[in-house]
Amino acid sequence: MPPTLPSTGQQPSARERLIVALDTPNGGEALDIVSELSGEVFAFKVGLQLFTAEGPAFVSELVGRGEKVFLDLKFHDIPNTTAMAAVSAARLGVWMMNFHASAGREALETARLAVENVCSKEGLGRPLLIGVTLLTSSGEEHLKELGFDGTAEEYVLRMAKLAASAGLDGVVASAREAAAIRSAIGVEFVTVTPGIRPKGGTIDDQKRVMTFRDALDSGATYAVVGRPITAERDRRAALAALTA
Ligand code: C5P
Repeated sequence: MPPTLPSTGQQPSARERLIVALDTPNGGEALDIVSELSGEVFAFKVGLQLFTAEGPAFVSELVGRGEKVFLDLKFHDIPNTTAMAAVSAARLGVWMMNFHASAGREALETARLAVENVCSKEGLGRPLLIGVTLLTSSGEEHLKELGFDGTAEEYVLRMAKLAASAGLDGVVASAREAAAIRSAIGVEFVTVTPGIRPKGGTIDDQKRVMTFRDALDSGATYAVVGRPITAERDRRAALAALTA
């Protein structure tokens, strides 16, 4: 069984719904952020940059400190390799991990079954398994190159349905698609949304942004935030302003 989802009452807090992206070149800088924000946010995300620099030992360090870790490595390989990578991630004790939904139903389903099997045999907590629908840096031109003639939203919905049919718990998608995903698949299906920015703030390289509150109001389950918090001198103040 997947872990219990956070409450969906009025005005959910950063402690229930916010994941901070630890996009740093080394573990020392990441741990500074964790020390400052621990207890104030729901989870921390370790992605390709930090994982490649510091490896699984850093993930274990965070888990050992009692932090929830979203391992954002976007697995995409043949079914057996994808499943074995997912098993290794589950053994690290991560709370959430993800796969490119375009890896296909067989890879996603094989990975889910392998994770469920190892968690039940070894008494591990079952991590949330999430599909990546479409990177925010990819638009309709990119989809055309791949031979898909529909809109980005159609592609996102197609990938979300594929992830759901393989038994995954949810998807990473823009907050703009969260409502359509919820109505197509159901309210229990998790939507993790990056591209969160404060009102009137800089958008960096994100194209389609939303505030934290608007993202949750649109049906996002979790919001992923990086630079608007981590690049600020006073990160706690930035967090408070972003989630006010
Ligand atoms: O700094 P910022 O708030 O833009 O960070 C967003 C985080 O979410 C980054 O770690 C980025 O890799 C990740 N992400 C994204 N868009 C996706 C998937 C992941 O921005 N579609």
